[in-house]
Amino acid sequence: MNTASTAPVTAVILVAAGSGQRLGYGMPKAKVPLGGDSILTHALRGVAAAGIAGQICVAIPPGDPELRAQCEAFAAELQAEHTRTAAQGEDGLLPAVTTVDGGASRADSVRAALSALAPGTQFVLVHDAARALTPESVFHRVAAALTAGAVAVIPVIHVVDTIKTVDPTFGDDADIAPEIVTGTAPREMLRAVQTPQGFDLATLRGAHEAAVGFDGAQAAAVTDDAMLVELLGFPVHAVRGASQSLKITTPLDLILAEGLLEGPLGVRWVEG
Ligand code: CTP
Ligand code: MG
Repeated sequence: MNTASTAPVTAVILVAAGSGQRLGYGMPKAKVPLGGDSILTHALRGVAAAGIAGQICVAIPPGDPELRAQCEAFAAELQAEHTRTAAQGEDGLLPAVTTVDGGASRADSVRAALSALAPGTQFVLVHDAARALTPESVFHRVAAALTAGAVAVIPVIHVVDTIKTVDPTFGDDADIAPEIVTGTAPREMLRAVQTPQGFDLATLRGAHEAAVGFDGAQAAAVTDDAMLVELLGFPVHAVRGASQSLKITTPLDLILAEGLLEGPLGVRWVEG
């Protein structure tokens, strides 16, 4: 059955324009090899496998020919697969894969991609390429919450560590330890936030437009898209994320991601 014509048009913005300083490979993180492919290629496969996107808009480091070529090669792969399955009578969604030059900050990269989405797009999912192993089920939960009426939805996982707030210590105390504890957040109320984060497109565009006027400190304090929507007073819903959606940030994360890929069933089969 062809559901593509009646389903809301959903775009996925894949932000892949970061420089990967903490990973320390001396190249943009999206290019770093993971299980024989690049981090970007794994991320693209995950988005496409979810089957929800009419468009995948990838923000790449400005003018990067290699990452642009990877996106083009992936689009050709998708087209070939679509032609093959169409010949067997299947009628899946063939997402358009497009690229935009990202910006200096993640938020700038999201804004660049927001201005490059196809007309008629109703929902947008913003996803970190660095979360290259996100399972399809997470995309589905986020998309389902949007379809059910959420204007903003984030995938979250429970926090396993006890989280404390601290302040720097001064004077004599600074000789004892660099920081002092100011409080302990109740762990049952805490969630670690992942991507893809899903939004009604008009709402997210409005939230990013409002953020253009932020000063440096305000802009630095905004660490995800949902926060901008929260600041405007919209409800943000939370669905279950997945531990294998880890953001590949440090060399240890890359080792974990390699280990997940080498698992007996492959990472996308692991839940929880
Ligand atoms: N990102 C982006 N544009 C930027 C900065 C980040 O598109 N100017 C993307 C990254 O490519 C990544 C996601 O946002 O997929 C999350 O950012 P992060 O994990 O911090 O990646 P990097 O900024 O590349 O890493 P680092 O901060 O260590 O340099
Ligand atoms: Mg960064």
